[in-house]
Amino acid sequence: MDFSIKAFDTKNTLGAAKSGCIAVAVFENKKLSEAAKALDLNGAISAAVKSGDISGKPGSTLLLRGVAGMTASRVLLVGVGADEAISEKSFGSAVTAMLKAFTLLGAQDAIIAFPFENVKGRDLHWAVRSIVVAANDAEFRSDAQKSKKDPAMTGVRKLTLALPANMAATPQLKAVLAQSIAIANGMNLTRELGNLSPNVCTPTYLANTARKLAEDHGFDVEVLDRKQLEALKMGSFLSVTRGSDEPPKFIVLKHMGGKPKDAPTVLVGKGITFDTGGISLKPGPGMDEMKYDMCGAGSVLGTFRAIGEMNIKLNVIGIVAACENMPSGRATKPGDIVTAMNGTTIEILNTDAEGRLVLADALTYAERFKPAAVVDIATLTGACIVALGHHNSGLFTRHDDIHNALADELMDAGAQTGDTAWRLPIGENYNEQLKSNFADLANIGSPGGASCTAAAFLENFTRNYTWAHLDIAGTAWKSGAAKGATGRPVPLLTTFLLNRV
Ligand code: BES
Ligand code: MN
Ligand code: ZN
Repeated sequence: MDFSIKAFDTKNTLGAAKSGCIAVAVFENKKLSEAAKALDLNGAISAAVKSGDISGKPGSTLLLRGVAGMTASRVLLVGVGADEAISEKSFGSAVTAMLKAFTLLGAQDAIIAFPFENVKGRDLHWAVRSIVVAANDAEFRSDAQKSKKDPAMTGVRKLTLALPANMAATPQLKAVLAQSIAIANGMNLTRELGNLSPNVCTPTYLANTARKLAEDHGFDVEVLDRKQLEALKMGSFLSVTRGSDEPPKFIVLKHMGGKPKDAPTVLVGKGITFDTGGISLKPGPGMDEMKYDMCGAGSVLGTFRAIGEMNIKLNVIGIVAACENMPSGRATKPGDIVTAMNGTTIEILNTDAEGRLVLADALTYAERFKPAAVVDIATLTGACIVALGHHNSGLFTRHDDIHNALADELMDAGAQTGDTAWRLPIGENYNEQLKSNFADLANIGSPGGASCTAAAFLENFTRNYTWAHLDIAGTAWKSGAAKGATGRPVPLLTTFLLNRV
């Protein structure tokens, strides 16, 4: 999809605009938006609204052809509800319905002349961002491995957002459009990686993807292999990969867009390219979905694509700990005790609690960068889906009090983009649950609060810097008929980094 912004004077130039279609808003009370009024030269639009052919309810649409006095061949009326201060939900339904109508048109391009600035509690920038991301979603197909591709989006491929000149011309808006496109492209990479089958999207595939990103955007990239991981004494990470024939990869990407001396912000992604559970084998039904256990890693790579395209002025380091979790004669057994890179001994009571084991060493490794902050992103626990559903990522930080600056930054970035997170607790009580009779730590807690004990486990490896953990088990993936990766939390992470510039 191709996006642009153009200044239009609704009184004169909108009617003269060359386009396959112009989408304008109408209200439930039969009122027309300013742009609809401007195109209503011979009363065809008001007649259509009065006739009841379009209700104006959010998501209702009506296509008119050959409206007199208008250069564009079609006008699409889109209902946005009763209220002239449009609610966020109504705006969302209107955009979804409009995009659906666009796919059915015999036109290649369209102009959207909406009252973008009238969404309650939101601003123009938010509206532009949400249209770009929604249009990108509507266009996305997960057919990379189909021999016959899904029908491409037939209709509109080129979208122009029409705004009054005083709004369209601001450099801020230009920047917001570029950011939105970068976020959409980053989400697409994350989605593609999450959807690819696990025999294709292996740790090696992730490493090659990182190398390609580095080449495209001028990042530094380093890929450590098993020998190097052994030399670093990453006993916790290596315990997970023991049962697999696929070589593990530890990937480090660097975008040094800030001042050389500025401490970097570090993103750490869980990259389990398939999670069978290991010897603590998962049940068969739905196990295929455990290919998405690399979506933390996928979101780090997607976010790097976005920040690379924008070339943001911030030092950012991405770490991806990638391997498979498989059962075999060589696999780690329940009861095995391993030593993590930082010297902590861990009793592995359940080999299916593997994400925290790979992250433990990746989080220790992050110390060497003297980070300003570290955020890890992981499909860590099924319990997080139970707690928060698919709406919010679980957000954990060390300080359980209300005031935590890093948590606030991440919450704000989520709220700004609709890619929201919700805070959950860690603390001494959860650490108590992780006591082992034989080692410093157990890798699972006593029953209850499994997302919190998982986060509390990670906290043990993050004490030398400011840290937050995002559990994306619920947000990274949609199950059911439309199953697939969502591209979350790339909008949250990218916006978090942008806000730090
Ligand atoms: N990758 C899973 C978590 C998961 C489950 C993500 C379902 C998405 C959907 C993780 O490695 C895991 O298996 N966690 C266990 C932890 C338990 C053994 C303490 C879980 O959630 O059941
Ligand atoms: Mn697991
Ligand atoms: Zn897992």
